Amino acid sequence: MTAAEAEPVIRVEGLTMGFDDFVLMRDLNFEVRRGEIFVILGGSGSGKSTLLKHMIGLYAPQAGRIWIGGEDIAHADGARLETMLRGMGVMYQMGALFGSMTLLENVRLPLEEHTSLPRAAMDAVARARLQLVGLGAFADFVPSEISGGMQKRAAIARAMALDPSVLFLDEPSAGLDPITSRELDRLILRLARSLGMTIVIVSHELASIFAIADRVIMLDKESRGIVADGDPRRLREESAHPWVRRFLGGETGGAEVDNQEVSA
Ligand SMILES: Nc1ncnc2c1ncn2[C@@H]1O[C@H](COP(=O)(O)OP(=O)(O)O)[C@@H](O)[C@H]1O
Ligand SMILES: [Mg+2]
Repeated sequence: MTAAEAEPVIRVEGLTMGFDDFVLMRDLNFEVRRGEIFVILGGSGSGKSTLLKHMIGLYAPQAGRIWIGGEDIAHADGARLETMLRGMGVMYQMGALFGSMTLLENVRLPLEEHTSLPRAAMDAVARARLQLVGLGAFADFVPSEISGGMQKRAAIARAMALDPSVLFLDEPSAGLDPITSRELDRLILRLARSLGMTIVIVSHELASIFAIADRVIMLDKESRGIVADGDPRRLREESAHPWVRRFLGGETGGAEVDNQEVSA
């Protein structure tokens, strides 16, 4: 089964979001399907991070519903919300690691906060997550001792600590050089293709979008809505919006990573 045929894990219905009486986006409707790499695009300040925070229940919508596995996260409370949140791993846009802690301690933190596992079991899980992102040998390093790309991978390992079914990444490749960025793309592809993770990513990096996205939506600040929803290559050729075609057409070819190459 391909991601396009899988059932929706997140369904956003008539979402209007903003702050106080300011409306940022009106009546958003879209679905994220199981196993899909779903990319949220849009100009700076269009509301990408805000949308992500609505999807993880951090902000309350002005209107609309956000269905996660059949339950509206915007109206879930207490124990239900806690259960729903445990199924989601998040790497925030500014979500740095704690500099005074080792990678192992950083990844162990969500386990300490949300489980009552014995210490040895927590350590074993944390080591397994570090292994998964290729940092098994760096468990006892502190963030300043490793590269920026490795720090991002460690942050992904931390987001995966509680074995979430959906992973949210806000601009994971920000600040990385193109080669390190492509490495991160390969990791993200591997998590989706071999572990079946559903991954929601905020990005504006074209090379990355064409390398990993099964589907993109594009937020438009002007019209306060979604101006594109679909496969990025098709949208680049066929979108009714000239600027969507221009945005996606801004850079092609050379820098692309072949999807097939990594999914094998
Ligand atoms: N907590 C908040 N309170 C008020 N305004 C906010 C808040 N968070 C974001 N905004 C505003 O909402 C708009 C969208 O922000 P954001 O979602 O961070 O955009 P993006 O991630 O697309 O760059 C910006 O104008 C920002 O200033
Ligand atoms: Mg943002």
